[in-house]
Amino acid sequence: MDRIKSLRGFRDIYGDEVKKFRYVEEVCRKYFNLFGYKEIITPVLENTGLFIRSIGETTDIVEKEMFTFKDLSGESVTMRPEATAGIVRAYLEQGIFAKERISKLFSIGPMFRHERPQKGRYREFRQIDVEVFGINDPMLDAELIWMTTLILKEIGLENYTIEVNSVGCSDCREHFRQMIVGYFEGIKDDLCEDCKRRLQRNPLRIFDCKNTKCKEISASSPFLFDHLCEPCKTHFNDFIRHLESLGIKVNINKRLVRGLDYYTGTVFEIVSQELGSQNAFLAGGRYNNLVESMGGPKVPGIGFAIGLDRLVLLVKEIKEKITPVFFFAYLGERAKKFIFPFMEEFIINNLKLLYLPEAKSLKSQLRYADSIRADYVLILGEDEIEKGIVIVRNMSKGNQLDIPLDVSTLIPNLQGLFEK
Ligand code: HAM
Repeated sequence: MDRIKSLRGFRDIYGDEVKKFRYVEEVCRKYFNLFGYKEIITPVLENTGLFIRSIGETTDIVEKEMFTFKDLSGESVTMRPEATAGIVRAYLEQGIFAKERISKLFSIGPMFRHERPQKGRYREFRQIDVEVFGINDPMLDAELIWMTTLILKEIGLENYTIEVNSVGCSDCREHFRQMIVGYFEGIKDDLCEDCKRRLQRNPLRIFDCKNTKCKEISASSPFLFDHLCEPCKTHFNDFIRHLESLGIKVNINKRLVRGLDYYTGTVFEIVSQELGSQNAFLAGGRYNNLVESMGGPKVPGIGFAIGLDRLVLLVKEIKEKITPVFFFAYLGERAKKFIFPFMEEFIINNLKLLYLPEAKSLKSQLRYADSIRADYVLILGEDEIEKGIVIVRNMSKGNQLDIPLDVSTLIPNLQGLFEK
């Protein structure tokens, strides 16, 4: 019979890769806790309007990449392409803004974008997302970057670049928009069809175009960074000053634009040359107007998302706490009855005892123990039951010894062995 395959851009994650995912999550959770973040879980499916309004109608994500469909009641729903919009909705819907002056939130989960799949780019991918509401101080912008450098250090990552820029507030953006409309109008015919439309509706999006010709044109156009208003300039300079005091080196990249419309002021990306063309494994920035534009009070916000699928590609080694693996090899019905009582003792003591159900011979069980890399094998057959002993074999050294067949003293006797 034909097998049904997974969808293009959707993938199974298992074995060592899953371990890396959980490891990165664990390190992130540790630092989120130390920096005072609380977890929030929001739905994967949201009203389509939520993303149009927050990410922006003329962005690639909204125009081309969303998994949008009508549900059975005819409502237009979308599989979330990113986490910020849903978290802002929850922040307002749950009245979090009224309960806390400052909210530091994080969320971990799958996102969906209908992009062309390639290494590091999938249609379902996972993000570790961080959002802070209620503070406009540039010290916080630096704190976020600092926290990520601590996370990356613990994960063992050294070769990366932090790119930073400011995309200004709505005032400096409006001023700049008028300026560059004139600039691009003069060379309109060289722009791609999408950018010709963008010129009418949202000219700043031209800077985000992937078309080679448009990239060339925007590279030689004026930069918004050079036309920031005074408060935006001061904010950015203070941000850089705080980073310097933390000893964090960044690259000011005036060309850095983000693919989402909600950003104001500070934006950043962390990139690794090891990743190829999809080189950003973390990205974010400030969004001081988003909460208000979603119908809430005027509350500033800032956040970032780690692209977990990309970050794990860079993880070489996992610092795992090593606990020995025990395996129980049994022969005969009487010995089989000891499996669950033995396992229970192990579990109570946070230890792992595995066994092979339906085992036929000692040989097949030892072969299996080897395949799962068991450190110690406990062997129990009729002879051992008669003698009141359990044989314990050290799989790496090959030697073995006897311990009493007594559930209550089993773990202390074994601990004596492997803690030596
Ligand atoms: P973003 O730049 O669209 O920002 O995505 C953040 C990160 O998610 C990217 O740098 C990348 O590592 C990963 N990513 C994006 N698309 C894919 C894909 N198709 N396959 C694999 N990984 C991908 C945001 O999503 C913002 N919500 C970040 C943010 C939070 N800004 C403020 N708060």
